[in-house]
Amino acid sequence: MRYPQEIIEEVRSGNDIVDVVGSFVSLKNSGGNHFGLCPFHNERTPSFSVNVDRQMYYCFGCGAGGNVISFVMQIENYDFIDALKWLADRINYHLPQPHQSAASLQQSQIRDTIRKINKTAARFFYDSLQADTQEACAAVKYLDTRSVHPKLRVSFGLGFSPDSWNSLMNHLQQQNFSLPDIITAGLAKSRETKGAYDRFRGRLMFPILDIDGHVVGFGGRIMGSGEPKYLNSPETPVFEKNRHLYGIHVARKARAKEILIVEGYMDVLALHQAGFRQTVGVLGTALTPNHARLLKRINCTSVVLLMDNDRAGREAVLRGIPVLLEAGFKVKVLQVGDGAKDPDEYLQMHGAARFAEIIQHAQSHIAFRIGLLRDTYDLKNTEQRIMFTQKAADILAGLNNAIECDVYIRETAGLTGIAPEAIRVEVDKRRNIPGAVPRDRPGLRYNMQGARHNKGQIKAYKGILSLLFAYPEAGQAVQDGGFLTPEEMGESIMADLLVIAFENGKKGVVANPADIIARFDKLEEQRQAAEILRDSPNFENKMEMEKSLNEMWRVVKRACISREILEKQGSDMQEINALLESKKNVENKYIRIFNQPTA
Ligand code: GTP
Ligand code: MN
Repeated sequence: MRYPQEIIEEVRSGNDIVDVVGSFVSLKNSGGNHFGLCPFHNERTPSFSVNVDRQMYYCFGCGAGGNVISFVMQIENYDFIDALKWLADRINYHLPQPHQSAASLQQSQIRDTIRKINKTAARFFYDSLQADTQEACAAVKYLDTRSVHPKLRVSFGLGFSPDSWNSLMNHLQQQNFSLPDIITAGLAKSRETKGAYDRFRGRLMFPILDIDGHVVGFGGRIMGSGEPKYLNSPETPVFEKNRHLYGIHVARKARAKEILIVEGYMDVLALHQAGFRQTVGVLGTALTPNHARLLKRINCTSVVLLMDNDRAGREAVLRGIPVLLEAGFKVKVLQVGDGAKDPDEYLQMHGAARFAEIIQHAQSHIAFRIGLLRDTYDLKNTEQRIMFTQKAADILAGLNNAIECDVYIRETAGLTGIAPEAIRVEVDKRRNIPGAVPRDRPGLRYNMQGARHNKGQIKAYKGILSLLFAYPEAGQAVQDGGFLTPEEMGESIMADLLVIAFENGKKGVVANPADIIARFDKLEEQRQAAEILRDSPNFENKMEMEKSLNEMWRVVKRACISREILEKQGSDMQEINALLESKKNVENKYIRIFNQPTA
């Protein structure tokens, strides 16, 4: 859901950025700019500036930047909509109810009903575990053998599903829930012929709660051996396993800056019991950006991936690392050992004190990745040693802490016998390419699909966009002449910005930079847009502008064509030749905006 552009612009322009930022940061006026200490990184001398005319903020220290909406998103950890609501409230602006279609209204009613069914079912399972039946006693005994303390059964609402085809169904229907709704909730399965039966039978039940405490689904463990060991709720209108983390509703109360992520339900329970309440579990899937967003909501900044001691565990961690880094988390990795296959076993075997110790020694994700890499090369062989160093440099280039980087460069040097200076050169080389994360700017990506762009090219990309925004007539000339298309720029924010520049060119307007930033929902995109829109280009006269446009265009166009060639590699030679030809032709083209040279 998104509000119309006009409404976003009204709310944005109604909130002066100096007022809003000023209520969080103390600012000093100096010319058109206000300066202060950046609230987003630690500093002693102010490098954070707020520009009244452009209604933007920018930090020269950490690269944070955007409009007033970005600022609220960043400082309050809100998403776009919440930031907009906050700003609307601030100026008593009445945001219209976002239009809800009949279909979406029905959807939200269904979700509501399913949550109620789930809650009733969780209660039923919980009560069934306390019941004085033989099977309930066996379930309690099972929990005992696994050392799950009674207190924990309560805080996690553990339960038991009786070994029957319809006991839950009957119970829910008595509470006036309809069979189709119970099936949609994933608690019963319909029979091919007629009727339905309970999905969970004779299992230990783990209710899965969302961050607000709603029961969204269940995991059920067979007691003893059998298949499947765990049975989980299917995807339902309230449950997608890649959006939820087991234990998040309890873990959030720990208010920890560092959260632990494990693979299994039992691992979560064991860790909570040992006092590590800041633990959540993934539900048998890989970590996704949805998970990362959820973690943002509980305000943690660092994550320790605690994996099972097997190949699947290591692979899951390798896939999870970039997802978390992308979201701005600090990432550490800990693989349990000493004869234990998972954190639960480790705790049973070695106790909480020893666990606390190994947590202290969790590796940085870089050390972990370099360690795995090392195991795949024979470092006694010269060629392999060089290959290993190249790959290690790829990893190190992603590191944004200079001290840490230095440590690992030395370590890699020690392993390979290659001089640290030589490795450093390799690392620095990689940092100048978009796609790698530059120093101190986690998450900044130009995402030009592997094409290598040098500093000059990046400057030209930014320069041409900032020129097109300032001079709509230039935007129109570029678009009408087909000199550059958004598609050519690949899937990057640059392409999106070009689309907007063309729109403005058609309309012949110079848009407020802060409104252009407001077209992006994500903070990182807003930050990148802010970087481009920070300054307006200045030219002596129109011909100077035209000349500069053409100079930058040539650089950008050639880079775009190179990128396309790279993508087409190995395919049609004819197409590649045509692209090579057009690259040569760039020299002979000229974008003319003004018919007569103005003196
Ligand atoms: P135990 O200690 O044996 O009770 O299990 P665990 O908590 O250590 O979990 P394990 O490492 O075996 O599995 C990790 C996670 O994968 C579980 O918590 C489940 O979410 C999921 N999982 C495990 N086995 C199954 C299965 O048979 N089917 C499905 N769908 N998921 C499973
Ligand atoms: Mn286990």
